[in-house]
Amino acid sequence: MSNRNSNKPDPSRRTFLHRAILAGVGLPLLTRGLYGGDLPGGDYRDPSRPLPAGNPLRRPAVHTGTDIHAAVIEGEVWPGSPTPLWTFGGSYPSPTIRVRRGEQFTMKLYNDLPEKTSIHWHGLVVPSDMDGHPRNAVAPGGTFDYSFKIDQRAGTYWYHPHPHEATAKQVYMGMAGLFIVEDDEELVLKLPSGEFEVPLVIQDRRQAGSTTIAYAPVAMDHQDGYLGDTILVNGTPDPYLEVAPGLYRFRILNGSNARILDLALADGHKLTVIGTDGGLLDKPYDVSYTYLAPAERVDLVIDFSGYAPGTSVVLKSLPYSGGAGTGQGVEFDILRFDIVDRPAWPNPLPAALTTLNFHNAAEALRTRSFRLDIDHSVTMNMHQINGKTFEMDRVDEQVNAGDLEIWEFQNVTLLPHPIHIHGLQFQLLDRNGTGPLDPVDAGWKDTVFMRPFQTIHLLIRFQEHLGLFLFHCHNLEHEDEGMMLNYEVIAGNTGVDVRGDGMRDGGMDLR
Ligand code: C2O
Ligand code: CU
Ligand code: CU
Repeated sequence: MSNRNSNKPDPSRRTFLHRAILAGVGLPLLTRGLYGGDLPGGDYRDPSRPLPAGNPLRRPAVHTGTDIHAAVIEGEVWPGSPTPLWTFGGSYPSPTIRVRRGEQFTMKLYNDLPEKTSIHWHGLVVPSDMDGHPRNAVAPGGTFDYSFKIDQRAGTYWYHPHPHEATAKQVYMGMAGLFIVEDDEELVLKLPSGEFEVPLVIQDRRQAGSTTIAYAPVAMDHQDGYLGDTILVNGTPDPYLEVAPGLYRFRILNGSNARILDLALADGHKLTVIGTDGGLLDKPYDVSYTYLAPAERVDLVIDFSGYAPGTSVVLKSLPYSGGAGTGQGVEFDILRFDIVDRPAWPNPLPAALTTLNFHNAAEALRTRSFRLDIDHSVTMNMHQINGKTFEMDRVDEQVNAGDLEIWEFQNVTLLPHPIHIHGLQFQLLDRNGTGPLDPVDAGWKDTVFMRPFQTIHLLIRFQEHLGLFLFHCHNLEHEDEGMMLNYEVIAGNTGVDVRGDGMRDGGMDLR
């Protein structure tokens, strides 16, 4: 395992906005250090004290069958109080869908909502018309038959609505769930499973003490994103989870509209990153904290074997300097683990997990550049990509199926933007020209956290499915206001300079 730890989070490192602005360089988020036997005791609970208040962590429902209804329900988030929720499958969070690689997946969506909706399968490689693009949104009372073959790595993907200008509201009101792909390669690793494999959908909600979830953004929220004051994990406020003193696997989705998390255990105990958006890493990596932007997933193993039964430790989002006025960087408790005396997961974590068959950047056929900026000419500053905001049917970029390209994103704004590309998994090459990458960035990705004033390069192999796909900022307020473009995949050709840019538009034969 790598040794990229530090005993204690160093507050001077928790300043992604600040340092990016001042220094204009990528952040070495992980520092070298050692774990000694000297974990600070401050967050261990004294076993003689009574249990603090809290609610047992809910597990998302598991979806069965091939129908799913989008509907408004009255659910219970805060014990004893009814909360109106917008749901898929009648639960919040939406039920977890679990499939095996190679299977043909089908799902009929019934839209029982008072407005249009769709399902976007975030991170999945699917045909254009199955991708939940806003132009394929389903009218109230309508249905849509999704059907596609699961042909990609095992991993923690997710699904959520994607209707025009209403994605943020629908996700916020409760519509988002995990989509877990399994494959034979992963199953032989005997990673913690069953009760030892815990999905965590982390979302912030703006409650101000209320038990009603309401989406009511004001101008500032469109600029910064809709940030909350309360964390819900799997729809549980103030959650705790009883754990055996051993290994657990946490499939974590930051399902917030805009909140960037900085996950760490309160006592600095290591987190072991085993996977990213697109599945397992080559091997486990120990870190003391990991950033997670909206829509990103991280697959973490936590080893509780060093904790005595009767003690507790809290998974937190650590404070960081989020930049004045952005509302980011607030410290939160996410989930309290209460260690109890019961049998632990019996298998060790393998030292090697998989082979990452990454592409070679030197073989990229071209580089496209995208500038993330703000249109200062309008009163409510609109975020843009290359000076444009979203148009439903406009083709902003055309790519050949199968081509390997480098996409450069330059963030020239004061705000962070999680950039997401539909229909594929990419590699992050660098941040401001430098590495090494944090483990959460070092595997297959579909969403990448762009810090302010940062330039990143993505290496992308376009898929075989032809047609229109989206790429956008996954700050959902930014997305809805139009920080989103279309790319179209067209059939590749055999090396003719169709574009007239002096580069051959290499097709399938060049792979
Ligand atoms: Cu989570 Cu357009 O996506
Ligand atoms: Cu997506
Ligand atoms: Cu953004």
